[in-house]
Amino acid sequence: MERIKVVIADDIKETRENIKKLLSFEKNIEVIGEAENGEEAVFIVKESRPDIVLMDINMPIKDGIKATEEISIQIPDTAVIMVSVQGEQEYLKKAMSAGARDFIVKPFSEEDLVQTIMKIYSIEQKRKEGISAPKKKEEIISKVISVFSTKGGVGKTTIASNLAVSIARLTRKKVALVDLDLQFGDVAIMLNVSLRSTISDLIKEINQVDSSSIEDYMVTHFSGIKVLPAPVKPEYAEYITPAHVTKIINSLRGRFHYIVVDTSNIFNETVLSALDLSDKILCISTLDLPTIKNIKSGLDIMESLHYSNNKINIVLNKASEQFGIKYKDFEDTLKYPIWSYIPEDSQTVISSANKGFPFVITRAETKVAKSIMAMSKELTEEKKEEVQVKEKAGFLKLFSL
Ligand SMILES: Nc1ncnc2c1ncn2[C@@H]1O[C@H](COP(=O)(O)OP(=O)(O)OP(=O)(O)O)[C@@H](O)[C@H]1O
Ligand SMILES: [Mg+2]
Repeated sequence: MERIKVVIADDIKETRENIKKLLSFEKNIEVIGEAENGEEAVFIVKESRPDIVLMDINMPIKDGIKATEEISIQIPDTAVIMVSVQGEQEYLKKAMSAGARDFIVKPFSEEDLVQTIMKIYSIEQKRKEGISAPKKKEEIISKVISVFSTKGGVGKTTIASNLAVSIARLTRKKVALVDLDLQFGDVAIMLNVSLRSTISDLIKEINQVDSSSIEDYMVTHFSGIKVLPAPVKPEYAEYITPAHVTKIINSLRGRFHYIVVDTSNIFNETVLSALDLSDKILCISTLDLPTIKNIKSGLDIMESLHYSNNKINIVLNKASEQFGIKYKDFEDTLKYPIWSYIPEDSQTVISSANKGFPFVITRAETKVAKSIMAMSKELTEEKKEEVQVKEKAGFLKLFSL
C-alpha cells in the first residue's frame, strides 16, 4: 500500500516535532512536509498534494481556517484535519464550514491521531475510487543522471537536489534522488526530509528489494521526489558494495523516469558502479586551479574507462571570470566545452539549504535557480529525442525483417 502522505501545519516547532514523533511509529503514514503558518501550509500542499493536512487553528500570517478554506477549494483531494485545544468550539465550527473533514482535540494519544487519519484517508480513497478510472500500467523508460566531481565542496549536493526537484516540477514525472555520498551525505539535511529509512535499511533487506518494493525504503520530499538518504553514520558506508548500488539503480529504473545520483568526490568502486550505469554524468567544477587540475585527472580516468564524450557534461559552478581564469582557457585545458554555467549566489543557496526549501521552488526568479531549471529542461528534452531515435530504430528493424 502507498503510505499516507501527511503535512503538519503548526507555528510551534515543538508541537510539530511531537506529532512527527507520534506518527513515526506508524509505517503506513509518512510526514512529507511542515509549515509554520497558513500561508506556508497552502504553498506546501499545492506543491506536494498530500493526502492529509493536520492544521492548527491559530497561526500567524494566515490562520488555519483561512488556509483550510483555500486548500479545500484549490486542492480538494487533500483532506484537512483541524487540530484544536478544548474550548475552540466556535473556531471549529468555522473550520468545518471552511471545508475541514474532521478535527482532533489536544492533547491526543498516538492512537487517536492515527485512527482519525486512517478514517479520513479511507473515506477519501473510496470517494476517489468512485470518480476515477483505474490507472493503466505504464512501461517506464528512465534516465540516470549522476552529479559528480573529483573535488569536494564544489556544489554537487546543491545541484543534485535542486535539479531533481526542478525535473519533477517540469516533467511531472517520477523522480528519485539517491545520496551516494555514503560517508558524509547531506541530501536529507539539505531537503529537510525525515530519516525514517536510509540506504542502510535497504541493504539489510537487499535480497527482497525490487522495483515494486524499493519505494518503501525511500522518503518523500514535499516536491514529490523520493529520496534515498545516505547512512546516518559514516562507518555504515563500508557495508554498501558496488553490487548493491547496481541492484538499487536497476530497481529504481523500473519505477522512476529520472534518477538523480549525488556522489562523493572519490573514484571508489561504489561511485564507479553508479557512473557506469549513468546515462549522463554532470561533472561539477569551479574556476580555481586546484579544482581544475583535479577535474582534469578525473576526466582522464573517465576517458580510460571509455566513457563516451557525450555522456559527460561539464557544469561550472560559481561561474565568474573575475578571478583571473577565462572560460576559454578552462575549456582548452579540459578539452571539453562548458555545458552549463551556474552563478554564485550565497544568499539564495545558503538560506534555501538552511530552511530545506529548494531554491528552484522558492526563489525561481533568481539566476541561480534559472540556470538549474535550464539544465533540467535540456536533460529532459534530450531524453525525448533519444526515445524518438530508439522508436525509429525499432521501426526500421521491423521493416528490415
Ligand atoms: N552557486 C552557488 N553560490 C553560492 N554558494 C554555493 C553555490 N553552490 C554551492 N554553494 C555552497 O557551497 C557549499 C558546498 O556546496 P555543496 O554541499 O552542494 O557541495 P558538495 O560538492 O556537495 O560538497 P561535498 O563534497 O562536501 O559533498 C555549500 O555551503 C553551498 O551552499
Ligand atoms: Mg555533497
